[in-house]
Amino acid sequence: MKKILAPIAAAGAVLLALTGCAQSGGGSADGPKDPSEIIVGFAQVGAESGWRTANTKDIQAAFEDAGIELKFSDAQQKQENQIQAIRSYIQQGVDVIAFSPVIESGWDAVLKEAKDAEIPVVLTDRAIDSTDDSLYVSFLGSDFIEEGKKAGEWLVEEYSSSTEPVNIIQLEGTTGAAPALDRAEGFADVIAADDKFQVVESQTGDFTRAGGKQVTEALLKSNPDVDVIYAHNDDMGLGAIEAIEAAGMVPGTDIKIITVDAVKDGMQALADGKINFIVECSPLLGNQLVEIVEKVVAGEDVEKRIITEETTFTQEQAVEALPDRKY
Ligand code: AHR
Repeated sequence: MKKILAPIAAAGAVLLALTGCAQSGGGSADGPKDPSEIIVGFAQVGAESGWRTANTKDIQAAFEDAGIELKFSDAQQKQENQIQAIRSYIQQGVDVIAFSPVIESGWDAVLKEAKDAEIPVVLTDRAIDSTDDSLYVSFLGSDFIEEGKKAGEWLVEEYSSSTEPVNIIQLEGTTGAAPALDRAEGFADVIAADDKFQVVESQTGDFTRAGGKQVTEALLKSNPDVDVIYAHNDDMGLGAIEAIEAAGMVPGTDIKIITVDAVKDGMQALADGKINFIVECSPLLGNQLVEIVEKVVAGEDVEKRIITEETTFTQEQAVEALPDRKY
């Protein structure tokens, strides 16, 4: 539908330019689109973590507040479900498609279909590894490599006065997902400076609490002398805490834990001394996504990469921040 209308719209734009009344943005010939006329299709990863639940709520609330219709689908952490949802949004002729890619690779074909249908795509939260950056208009989300680096920097500082080996278990996020790849990379880059830091095991817990618990239970049996667990998100760290306690050890003391996210449950465990350090990853992307959508629909330029502002938390800082924590 959009493809058929394109030449007519282009002709209209030329006519308006010739008469000196060209619109700077998109929308119909009668003027820019009212928010109530905009339809956005959002393909979410799933509901695997506290972070994801907060992200979904924030996005849904932001679009409701803006008066923009949001079609929402939950891919249950499966790429094929997300591809199916994107195809369905293309068929429905939505104005913009936004999605948080479950994994980095394998998106070119479906995004080419969206491009051919002239539906702009916004990446939220996670990146894709395509070499063709014309397949999306903007990517809004965290710098995951930087998050991994911050985790590594805290660890290096924490053990700066020790020469003993530091044995680390890494709980990876979903295999092939941008935050799993990048958080591992950033962390590895920093700890490589001193070979006393050894990642003795690294396995996926799929960003879930159950996954983190199960993997930690198994790995503690083969690595009883582990010093540190670096979990790619709070939920896996919270699962690790359960496994450590079940093994008769004290999380945060016998085994230090570093996580990423800073959702309320993670922050509570940090304030309670069960986690030692959290790198923040903000799920509050809703308002910025609405802004991007409005600009794209109005034909305005948007930044190709928008990086979310984030901080880090020690145990003392978590105690202070917890009462005001929104998610
Ligand atoms: O992509 C962001 C990551 O995905 C969050 O850190 C994690 O909790 C979520 O599942």
